[in-house]
Amino acid sequence: MAISDPDLVIAWKQVLDMCKVTAGEQLTILTSDDSNPQIVGACRIAATQIGAVVSLLNLPPMNGEKALSRDKSGYVGKTALAFNSAALACLKASDMVIDTMQLLFSPEQEQILRGGTRMLLAVEPPEVMLRMMPTMEGKARVLAAEKLLEKAKVMTVTSKAGTDFRCALGQYPVLTQYGLADEKGRWDHWPSCFVARWPDEGSCEGTIVIDEGDIMLPFKMYARDRVVLTIEKGFVTRIDGGFTADYMKEFMDSFNAPEAYAMAHVGWGLEPRASWTQLGLYDRESGLSMDSRTFAGNFLFSTGPNTEAGGKRDVPCHLDIPLRKCSLSLDGEAMTVEGKVVQPPM
Ligand SMILES: [Fe+2]
Repeated sequence: MAISDPDLVIAWKQVLDMCKVTAGEQLTILTSDDSNPQIVGACRIAATQIGAVVSLLNLPPMNGEKALSRDKSGYVGKTALAFNSAALACLKASDMVIDTMQLLFSPEQEQILRGGTRMLLAVEPPEVMLRMMPTMEGKARVLAAEKLLEKAKVMTVTSKAGTDFRCALGQYPVLTQYGLADEKGRWDHWPSCFVARWPDEGSCEGTIVIDEGDIMLPFKMYARDRVVLTIEKGFVTRIDGGFTADYMKEFMDSFNAPEAYAMAHVGWGLEPRASWTQLGLYDRESGLSMDSRTFAGNFLFSTGPNTEAGGKRDVPCHLDIPLRKCSLSLDGEAMTVEGKVVQPPM
């Protein structure tokens, strides 16, 4: 169902207020040729109403001829900013950037954030953004999970499907997403609600089983059959199974980069309004499917880059795979049990 322009303006006003955007702040809306014009237009009006000094910065899309899909999460890290020092200077000089083109994982994004600019990604369909408006309760839940993850030394994950995974934590910072860029230098994504961390280099070990029906991103498909991943010293070393395993392997191989097989962030979803079923009801190109990444109790693991956490692994292949029905523990204390959140309490 579509969202009206007035409703989207009201929502933007609320979210910008929660992001502490104030009169006189420099707010830049970053756009590309495939930005959603309704999102851009509504944000512009809301920011102007607040009294922010609003600029629109348009950059050309890149790597269309290299990527295997139109989804920007299918080929990450390289953006037009790499060659455009004038645009980079504009974003660095902004107090707040609304990203409707998706800079995620680019080194330029890290530079912009280090300067104190806050950034909010907004690329999901407007009705999904409104269904999952950021809330202070969601933020509190994510920050409570951050505290638990911050002090943890070991994460273990098991499932009846056969997952038996462990990794050490401590080398990299915790990643929190609650839909608000409300602190200096903070990046976030509206909508989002999960917590994650990059495991210590080389520490991931065990087996992860992607069961039939689990979601695989950026393919935006439900696994058709079981995939068994063998993980040794931080890397996926075997991918066994049928069609779905073959598909995954072929995609990862196509990047010709051993680092594509590194384990990346691991964590769990904390959004009760997100749904495992949403992906099946949408056209695959309509959004990133934050429902899939954030639905409450999923174990979200990923592969590929760690530049976002301050690491050196800059590889354009990034998979996000949220598993259902897993039990995730930190230092032996249960965070989820068979896909249900127990910590922090919902
Ligand atoms: Fe990811």
